[in-house]
Amino acid sequence: MYQKRPGVFMADWWDADGRRHRKQFNSASAAREHEHRETALAHAERASREMKLAARTGGGKRSQPKRDNADIAPAKGKLGVMIPGMGAVATTFVAGVEAIRKGLAKPIGSLTQMGTIRLGKRTDGRSPKVKEFVPLAGLDDLVFTGWDIFEDNMYEAASNAGVLDQRLLDQLKPFLSSVTPRSAVFDHNYVKKIDGPNVKKGKSKMELAEQLRDDIREFKKSSGASRLITMWCGSTESYIEPTEAHQSVKAFEKALRENDEMIAPSMIYAYASLMEGVPFANGAPNLTVDLPVMLELSRKNEAPICGKDFKTGQTLMKTVLAPAFKARLLGLSGWYSTNILGNRDGEVLDDPGSFKTKEESKLGVLEHILQPGLYPELYGNMFHKVRINYYPPRGDNKEGWDNIDIFGWLGYPMQIKVDFLCRDSILAAPIVLDLVLLMDLAQRCSDLKGLGIQEWLSFFFKSPMTVPGLYPEHDLFIQLMKLKNTLRHLKGEELITHLGLEYYD
Ligand SMILES: NC(=O)c1ccc[n+]([C@@H]2O[C@H](COP(=O)([O-])OP(=O)(O)OC[C@H]3O[C@@H](n4cnc5c(N)ncnc54)[C@H](O)[C@@H]3O)[C@@H](O)[C@H]2O)c1
Repeated sequence: MYQKRPGVFMADWWDADGRRHRKQFNSASAAREHEHRETALAHAERASREMKLAARTGGGKRSQPKRDNADIAPAKGKLGVMIPGMGAVATTFVAGVEAIRKGLAKPIGSLTQMGTIRLGKRTDGRSPKVKEFVPLAGLDDLVFTGWDIFEDNMYEAASNAGVLDQRLLDQLKPFLSSVTPRSAVFDHNYVKKIDGPNVKKGKSKMELAEQLRDDIREFKKSSGASRLITMWCGSTESYIEPTEAHQSVKAFEKALRENDEMIAPSMIYAYASLMEGVPFANGAPNLTVDLPVMLELSRKNEAPICGKDFKTGQTLMKTVLAPAFKARLLGLSGWYSTNILGNRDGEVLDDPGSFKTKEESKLGVLEHILQPGLYPELYGNMFHKVRINYYPPRGDNKEGWDNIDIFGWLGYPMQIKVDFLCRDSILAAPIVLDLVLLMDLAQRCSDLKGLGIQEWLSFFFKSPMTVPGLYPEHDLFIQLMKLKNTLRHLKGEELITHLGLEYYD
């Protein structure tokens, strides 16, 4: 769905045959509803065709033929990590990588560093580590730069963020102090709660994009990196919906030259990266790369994109619990989620515009997992509310409460309470590391680099990107299976379907 002009909203969907359709409405909600309904119908039609085909072709094959390996270039040389937004998440990630390199800590929470992947049958005993199975950059190969509106280097920014113990930061001080922020592309209208001095100036947004492209080229040269990746860890921007300016590269470039107010700073970073052929991952709920223009650029320049919004605390829990309710056909009448947090992210989200962006990202989850269209008696009438409250005493240590009203056999009600006392950036940092390494893999891989959106990385996101017309998978375990099967597929290993009949032949 996008806004064509004030008061005119376009529903935009693909039918079961892959044909694109658009229809005009005079309210955003009517357009969105139409788009959801048509998309669901197209899905149902495709699923029914697949089932008929499987029935005709005896779809119960016990194992798939082994395919050839995808062509994956080796991870040679340094990998440059460029981070717009050197705040709590970014500094916890970079300090963590350095602490691990120095042998001071372990990469806990990182799928690429600690995770394993089963290959072949359960009886084969083959479960290498992910990082040994596919060729990933090593932690020693990572070099860093970033942009921020504040002038603090990574040591100062990490000390201010207050996530990591000061004694650990002091041991890393020479390295962290050497990462200083480049001046940012920033617009106070998009992040109302903060302002800072380290900001680029230019006559047009196109000029700012050119300055970022210069930064990217300069970093590549000065760091000696052979490959780059951009990882957005900047603040959550005010809520906007796509407009005509975001529909193609041509329209977007015209809008950049004309300083169109619907182009947010994060989009300028994304445009600059993709123009330089650099993959872009989006850790915030901003639209940024979730736009036709970025998909077009990403495919054209073989620079993968993925997003959006790291799946860390409350939504991680939601995408574990909701699939369990659906699996057991337990009904849901309400889910009330509230959070208190006191870091800068919490302060930014205290602004209604930024909160709306986050709210949209958090709300989609239940609807997609529980599929009220398929289970109207169980989920047709659920009330879902999400609140975030800025509460400074807690700093980065967030508390997320969930009150869940479910019902079981004969409609008898029950309640579940979850109180997750988490550390936001401690949960986010390993996700950043995995995304950096896997996005770099994607760009070195013949099967993935030209796809644009890397849906197989949905595992890391609250609001995973998909091609238009395809609903996202939110269930954490489906996402994990999708990710690992993608890696198996790339390496020519059999996919794991969990059918398991072969053990009883
Ligand atoms: N920590 C988590 O668990 C988590 C989970 C999901 C999403 N996120 C998102 O990740 C992002 C970072 O979170 P954080 O806790 O590090 O926030 P933070 O406020 O500590 O850091 C964000 C930094 O971005 C900078 N910034 C803002 N606009 C910028 C711009 N245009 N260019 C360059 N720098 C800019 C700010 O000055 C700040 O230093 C936020 O958008 C947050 O919503 C975090």
